[in-house]
Amino acid sequence: MMLMNNLTNKRILLGVTGGIAAYKSAELVRRLREQGAEVRVVMTRGACEFITPLTMQALSGREVHTELLDHVAESGQGGGMGHIELARWSDVVLIAPGSANFIARLAHGLADDLLSTLCLATTAPVVIAPAMNQQMWINIATQENIATLVQREIKIVGPAEGSQACGEIGPGRMLEPEQLILEASQIFSTGLLADLKIVVTAGPTREAIDPVRYITNHSSGRMGYAVARAAAEAGANVTLISGPVNIEPPHQVRHISVDTAEQMRDVVMSDIIESDIFVAAAAVADYRCADVAEQKIKKKSEDLSLLLRKNPDILAEVASLPRAPFTVGFAAETENLLDNARAKLQTKKLDMIAANQVGEGLGFNVDENELQVFWQAGNQDQKDQTRENQIIKHQTLERAPKEKLARQLIKVIANHYYEKKSAQNNTTQVH
Ligand code: CTP
Repeated sequence: MMLMNNLTNKRILLGVTGGIAAYKSAELVRRLREQGAEVRVVMTRGACEFITPLTMQALSGREVHTELLDHVAESGQGGGMGHIELARWSDVVLIAPGSANFIARLAHGLADDLLSTLCLATTAPVVIAPAMNQQMWINIATQENIATLVQREIKIVGPAEGSQACGEIGPGRMLEPEQLILEASQIFSTGLLADLKIVVTAGPTREAIDPVRYITNHSSGRMGYAVARAAAEAGANVTLISGPVNIEPPHQVRHISVDTAEQMRDVVMSDIIESDIFVAAAAVADYRCADVAEQKIKKKSEDLSLLLRKNPDILAEVASLPRAPFTVGFAAETENLLDNARAKLQTKKLDMIAANQVGEGLGFNVDENELQVFWQAGNQDQKDQTRENQIIKHQTLERAPKEKLARQLIKVIANHYYEKKSAQNNTTQVH
């Protein structure tokens, strides 16, 4: 079967509700995993009447979740995930089959079992593949509930028409797994940044001390790689310029490997012309050795001093270009996050900064992160205004896996990029 690259590594929460079509969900799990997706299955009581959790566990390779009040999972013990964690974990919640009863409960905001609670608690897109008897589907009550869900931006896929398990013919059949996979993969190709050129830096840099030693930092590159992937999914033409990391670059992006901050600067500056957006997610070493020893340094003396010299600030250089792209920086802070981030936004003249707290299980080399995003708001001439007069706005992207955060960040970047563009166009028209 053809691979939809945009399901690779995606976290799909498959909700199975009570209906005969639940048998097709077993095949769906297998197909989603073939596409490289990670699948966790949540089943309602009704679903367990049609297919066993054991089948779904074997196919998903994960424990199946059925209970809202599961004390072990809610306490996070034994590797279990509570309902809020599952809600955060998901990149998409796909409910297949979605029964008439479940659709009604969701339309009314009920949260009386694990799946309905999850649907309220998640910020991920929710997709429902309805499956029911054709009379139940065309019933005005169901149709009104569907309309309510569509209004809330829940995506309804299907149902298909055809012969039904109950012997009737009409609309109500769940879409086939293949079609559902196509629908799920479309969720991740938003087209938000279509035709835009975006340059992303990622990973640490490595500054040589001598031929065998170097200075570096703990950056894993995951956040930058996730941003590059999310930008590509949004339709951008992406160049990812990366220091040494242990992760595979996403295949849709142009990938350039560098070692040092100076190399990174040179590649960025030659690539940045004509680009629309620059995201500096790299943890660039602030200093390099003033003199790199030609031979391995021998341990002769008790003390050894290295003279360090400041590296070029790539982000600040890009932001001060006469035709600078929309420039987004990152700030990893151990204290005074908000003040430091605001100060960096202003002193480096950035359009936006994404700040995160490092330490205590957040930041480098961990799966999850939380971002505080700040941007310059209002009149675009404000870069010339005094610091006091600048308007800075702020949004929190709640703790979530880095891949999911990156997709949210790309949405925020796209919004403000277009806002700035239209403000600039208006200014040009006025003059
Ligand atoms: N950055 C850069 N080039 C550098 C240093 C940093 O492009 N030589 C970028 C990073 O990619 C990140 C942002 O600048 O987007 C971080 O800003 P910076 O002032 O370097 O943060 P810190 O290193 O945390 O600064 P400080 O040590 O002053 O806290």
